[in-house]
Amino acid sequence: MLNGKHIILGITGSIAAYKAAMLCRLLVKEGAEVRVIMTPLAKQFITPLTMATLSKHPILVEFFNPENGEWNSHVSLGEWADMLLIAPATANTIAKMTTGIADNLLLTTYLSARSKVAVAPAMDLDMYAHITTQQNLQTLAQRGVAIIEPAAGELASGLIGKGRMAEPEDIVEQVKAIFAEAEHRTLAGKRYIVTAGATIEPIDPVRYITNHSTGKMGYAIAEELARRGAEVKLISGRTTLPAPKGVERIDVLTAEDMYNAAVKEWNKADGAVMCAAVADYTPAVVADHKLKKSDSDMRIELKRTKDIAAALGANKGSRIFVGFALETDNEEANAEGKLQRKNFDFVVLNSLRDKGAGFAGDTNKVTLIDHTGSQEHPLMSKREVAAIIVDKIETLNS
Ligand code: C5P
Repeated sequence: MLNGKHIILGITGSIAAYKAAMLCRLLVKEGAEVRVIMTPLAKQFITPLTMATLSKHPILVEFFNPENGEWNSHVSLGEWADMLLIAPATANTIAKMTTGIADNLLLTTYLSARSKVAVAPAMDLDMYAHITTQQNLQTLAQRGVAIIEPAAGELASGLIGKGRMAEPEDIVEQVKAIFAEAEHRTLAGKRYIVTAGATIEPIDPVRYITNHSTGKMGYAIAEELARRGAEVKLISGRTTLPAPKGVERIDVLTAEDMYNAAVKEWNKADGAVMCAAVADYTPAVVADHKLKKSDSDMRIELKRTKDIAAALGANKGSRIFVGFALETDNEEANAEGKLQRKNFDFVVLNSLRDKGAGFAGDTNKVTLIDHTGSQEHPLMSKREVAAIIVDKIETLNS
């Protein structure tokens, strides 16, 4: 997983520096090439000899070698690195990183590094909890530095609380996750709309018309698009799901609200996935008071709603446009009709006749239909379905 990755392991002056030995060993074992930079104080906590032996390279501390004047170039180190991992990171180093102080080789390398940067804080609980440290960490996080959270437990001072550096095994896992995430950012810079969930069409202040959509499929697609780096606006009808990480959710109620939000966002988007179960009809008038029952039957007059997908499709241009078709009969023919009518690039067909497909549950069985043919997929989780849909979006994008 870390095979061939270039990692600079920065070690600062914390008692947790002894754990850097194990961390270095694990990184090397995973196939990474590791170069170690220590701050001058770090040498008091762990010997350069230990770290040089484990990393299989001389360690770096000073800007130059005092014996022969050889320059340790922070610029070429910064260029070499795929990741700068500072573990342990003291409050002092974290503070200097936020302000750009560059008084040792580790800090100048940080300022020169174009790679991903991660810090694993290690300090006493009060130092860690201090508003200054917390704000500094927040600043670094906002600038894209990954923060590997410290663990709670007994600290070197004898106090018990949060501040102990994460365990080397956990740090390695997070390093892997950071690389994995970075490498899937294939849609970075692209803006996508996803519509999801059920619309609600009020009859009166108490009753409404809706459907069985849970929003799970649309939410999984929004999450997958965001994971690959896209900026996602999730226009969501009723659902009980939380907004996925990194996704901006726009809550709407009726088909009309969803239409307005989608049309507005479409101007700024590079593509859309229309996953919402939108009401085709809505009460012609919404009573402003609760309708009373009587002995006779009642009729509610319904009028057509606007077709959101058709409206966006009419103004698609070269943008990527994906629709859904949930059918109970004549599936392929109906889906192909939608592909043409709404100007989709492809339609995700699911049939309510297939067990495990449709609204309920966490699985779906889909066929992707585009203008050249169709591709049937086996039953899989909605998350996996989201991945194959986004895979297809990526091929259209490139
Ligand atoms: O025509 P039908 O509703 O079956 O088409 C389904 C596709 O059209 C889905 O992608 C759905 O999200 C979208 N749609 C829409 N606005 C509507 C009705 C459907 O965006 N009013």
